[in-house]
Amino acid sequence: MIFTVAIDGPAAAGKGTIGRAVAARFGFRHLDTGLLYRAVGVQGGDPAQAARDLSPGDLARDDLRTLEAGQAASRVAALPEVRAALVDFQRRFARSEGGAVLDGRDIGTVICPEAEVKLYVTASPEVRAHRRWLEVGGDEARVLAEVKERDARDMGRADAPLRPAEDAVVIDTSEMGIDEAVELACAIVSTRLGGRD
Ligand code: CDP
Repeated sequence: MIFTVAIDGPAAAGKGTIGRAVAARFGFRHLDTGLLYRAVGVQGGDPAQAARDLSPGDLARDDLRTLEAGQAASRVAALPEVRAALVDFQRRFARSEGGAVLDGRDIGTVICPEAEVKLYVTASPEVRAHRRWLEVGGDEARVLAEVKERDARDMGRADAPLRPAEDAVVIDTSEMGIDEAVELACAIVSTRLGGRD
């Protein structure tokens, strides 16, 4: 069975948590595509070359979740050569046998416009910054500024800007617990899977 769940949205909206939970519930594989850009961002040197040379080991680095790695990711993610180098791997993953969940910024719009389910997960910048601050600590105001800066760059870039696909279901988690958001996402996937039988 080929079945793709595309989950897009701004920084720290809950895409990863929802993606992992949906994948576990339905036995699909999960790819956090942000890790690809984070790994390229922290690599140094020529980003396009780093993207072409990316290996699974690069995704296992333990410094990919920092605020700095997030900023570096969003800078290299604006480069068309970097994005182009990562397309094939993501497309193959999305359409591989057995079902796949991918979360990122352009999955429903560019990587897999044919995805069977497209979700756009969002929340207010303050709520998202608070969640990210609980993970990384430090100064909450700085985390908020970082989230806003990254959103502006991701939404404003010319190549594959962050925006909901026209046929995406928007899930606003500002006033929704993560469990509720996971249940909503699973119900949408379940309905779509049922419609295929
Ligand atoms: O976890 P968080 O939502 O904060 O970020 P992430 O998903 O790890 O993505 C880090 C950065 O990579 C984003 O700010 C984007 O600039 C870039 N990215 C992208 O351009 N396209 C994707 N499919 C995934 C991430």
